Amino acid sequence: MLERLETLRSDALKQIEGTTASEALKQIENQTVGKKGEITQILRSIGSLDPEMRPQVGQRANEVRQELETALEARLSLIEAQELAKSLEEGQIDVTLPGRAAPTGRLHPSTQFLREMYDIWADMGFQVYRSREVEDDDTNFTLLNIPPHHPARDMWDTFHTTEEGVILRTHTSPGQIRAMREYAPDPIRVILPGMCYRYEQITARSEIQFHQVEGLAVGHNIRMTDLIGTMTECARRLYGAQRKVRFRASHFPFTEPSMEVDVECSICDGEGCNVCKYTGWLEIAGAGMVHPVVLKNGGYDPREFSGFAFGMGPERMIMLRHSIEDIRYFWGNDLRFLEQF
Ligand code: PHE
Repeated sequence: MLERLETLRSDALKQIEGTTASEALKQIENQTVGKKGEITQILRSIGSLDPEMRPQVGQRANEVRQELETALEARLSLIEAQELAKSLEEGQIDVTLPGRAAPTGRLHPSTQFLREMYDIWADMGFQVYRSREVEDDDTNFTLLNIPPHHPARDMWDTFHTTEEGVILRTHTSPGQIRAMREYAPDPIRVILPGMCYRYEQITARSEIQFHQVEGLAVGHNIRMTDLIGTMTECARRLYGAQRKVRFRASHFPFTEPSMEVDVECSICDGEGCNVCKYTGWLEIAGAGMVHPVVLKNGGYDPREFSGFAFGMGPERMIMLRHSIEDIRYFWGNDLRFLEQF
């Protein structure tokens, strides 16, 4: 029994010495001096020993227990000190390190371009007029000379709301009516920028949401040449004097005559590509002389007043300028795209 005590003692002391974690130390304690530990068991079983052995074994067992407890305690405080030092080390903050730069946001390419347009049009005397995105059917269509059920409505596939007659505007043209009704009978020179929505197939060149910049000038003696000159000046300011601009006869119910404004495709330099549908030209605006019916609906006497209007697509124009091949990038929220602007 005494021998067993001695091996137990030296084994335990060795183990304690080699332990570096407090949990392992706890285990050694359980196995030796704990309630169910070996020494405790030895002390309990003393009664079954030879009577003359009992005092000797009892005394030695108590000594060993004492010694081990002291060793355990000493080791524990050492390990705890080390663990504390380690966690302090790891949690240390070097306040002299330079800070991490906070990422700064930037303006969306469309916003940047719109601001550029505001400058150009402001130089020509046009002020910004904001009109609503949720429109009524009347203002979006009927007052613009597109009666209900007229086949011309097929040009604008519409998002309807659950409210009868309330839609998302399919173009910025209803803003013409709102601006005219506010200013009539004074002359007007405004641009109406904003988001438009169409229930359409999404492709490389068309999205279900996109900006338009509408323009409207109403006054005495405003003519087609004013429209052509103004559009040409805008294209020059945006693309430089070399790039070709072309005006093509077209049809819109709210202008008469109507035309479309094309700029030479800068992605393929007019050679033909999938962005310009292999025509070499990109349509940047619809335009025309304000239809007499629309002038009247806006509160102007068409015998006295005339005007021109246009609707430009800024996303298309940005694509032209930066050779962007797919309009879906604009609302795709891919930072790799957005960060380039
Ligand atoms: N509103 C037309 C469209 O969305 C564009 C346009 C505006 C045409 C003004 C003529 C005059 O297609």
